[in-house]
Amino acid sequence: MVLNVVIFGAPGSGKGTQSAFIVEKYGLEHLSTGDLLRTEQQTQSDLGKLIGSYINQGNLVPDELIISMLAKVLDTRKSKKGYIFDGFPRTTAQAEALKVMLAERNMKVSIMLDLNVTEAELIDRLLKRGVTSGRSDDNFETIQKRIQIYHTKTAPVKDFYKKEGLATDILGTGTMDEIFGRIVTVIDAL
Ligand code: AP5
Ligand code: MG
Repeated sequence: MVLNVVIFGAPGSGKGTQSAFIVEKYGLEHLSTGDLLRTEQQTQSDLGKLIGSYINQGNLVPDELIISMLAKVLDTRKSKKGYIFDGFPRTTAQAEALKVMLAERNMKVSIMLDLNVTEAELIDRLLKRGVTSGRSDDNFETIQKRIQIYHTKTAPVKDFYKKEGLATDILGTGTMDEIFGRIVTVIDAL
């Protein structure tokens, strides 16, 4: 069975952390648009500098750029078991594009997991991470901006997946193992 998981949630909700556990257990290919963008940013190419100008402000990188980047990666990192999409889709336009991209490759999203974490805990986690992460967007001002953008531009993606009957809430607080246990219960019931 091919398993395509969209892992969704606010900045700091644990998407990256839980993706790593999911990859280990189910052998999926991890596609994190944040990681892909940061890799490009580090090259200091013109594209990397452009990407950095969005990330550093807590803004979303334009849809066209993200969508074409992801389409390329889908073809270079082929997976028989499926993918975990982390940090993508982040706008309704991206969700629609993902549906088309997967359909063109005879695939579809199997489940969308929405990690629910309170705002106070998100800020606390990201400030702590900022001490060691070196991420240019892990500072108080940019964290607040990221959360605001999440509410205005990204939260509507959940309605898209609700309509598709794929949105599933996961309580995103507690230990990392407890949260992963909740995810496994949902995936194993598919
Ligand atoms: P992206 O890299 O996707 O960042 P994000 O969504 O802001 O989320 P994070 O990666 O900060 O958090 P996470 O949910 O992965 O949590 P994590 O597991 O790390 O995007 C960055 C930027 O890139 C965007 O702002 C945008 O500019 C751009 N971008 C990316 N994708 C884009 C797209 N599709 N379209 C447009 N622009 C895009 O956990 C956070 C911390 O909490 C860690 O320190 C972790 O150790 C800790 N933690 C995890 N679980 C727990 C727990 N249970 N208890 C306590 N601590 C925990
Ligand atoms: Mg992440």
